[in-house]
Amino acid sequence: MTNASTTREPSIRVRSVEKSYKDLHVLRGVDFDVAPGSIFALLGSNGAGKTTMVKILSTLLKTDAGTATVNGFDVATHPLRVRESISLTGQFAAVDEILSGRENLVLVARLRHLENPREVADELLARFNLADAALRKVSTYSGGMRRRLDIAMSLIGHPKVIFLDEPTTGLDPEARIDVWQIIKDLATQGTTVLLTTQYLDEAEQLAERIAILHQGRIIANGTLAELKQLLPPAKAEYVEKQPTLEDVFLALVGNEGKAATTAATSKEQS
Ligand SMILES: Nc1ncnc2c1ncn2[C@@H]1O[C@H](COP(=O)(O)OP(=O)(O)O)[C@@H](O)[C@H]1O
Ligand SMILES: [Mg+2]
Repeated sequence: MTNASTTREPSIRVRSVEKSYKDLHVLRGVDFDVAPGSIFALLGSNGAGKTTMVKILSTLLKTDAGTATVNGFDVATHPLRVRESISLTGQFAAVDEILSGRENLVLVARLRHLENPREVADELLARFNLADAALRKVSTYSGGMRRRLDIAMSLIGHPKVIFLDEPTTGLDPEARIDVWQIIKDLATQGTTVLLTTQYLDEAEQLAERIAILHQGRIIANGTLAELKQLLPPAKAEYVEKQPTLEDVFLALVGNEGKAATTAATSKEQS
């Protein structure tokens, strides 16, 4: 999609990462690479360990074993350098409800010591289609507007790598498509995007590479086309039916992964 950078140093490199919460061994040896400027989806059911992995990469949590580097910096030995080059948009929006959208953006721009916080805020408000709502309190925003603001805030200071933890969970279909477009635009501009999702269609739509996290390990990692080749096409007379990502996911993960396939029919909230 965006580049032919597989020979370059990966933006994110994860090797044999393990993490437990007391007796719960969540990550049991996770390995993957993310190429610069690409969109990489970490796909897994609820509780698979996606947020745990993102927290490790964004230095909020320490590994028990293994190594991870972001932008060439080891998260264990150079956490500050890692933090300088990333931003994280969590599963639950981090915007301040009692401030306006514009105030939220100006605040972050100030915290990041930018010289022109107001201009930065106005530019982002326009780019994320929030200009009309700029002066309203965030408590009056819809779910989609909050998520757009959240992503806008995370772009301040031009991080090289952005982590989006379930960026569209809880959004209505229209807001979801807006966020998808924003994510595609980010990668086009050269930002490396690691997103987590439990939605197969989201991974299918956005990601150049998809890694399936299941029972603490990456059980499949490839392009959509590569993942589809894991299953033989079902032949019916002369018509070949190609497997969908859903077929591949269910075949690999089994039925307990079924929760991850019901995205389109799950209840929307805002
Ligand atoms: N701070 C914590 N203490 C104990 N257990 C946790 C903690 N955070 C997450 N877990 C558990 O670890 C597993 C993986 O969680 P998480 O990484 O949030 O998964 P995902 O984001 O894929 O839904 C889940 O079973 C979850 O309940
Ligand atoms: Mg999570």
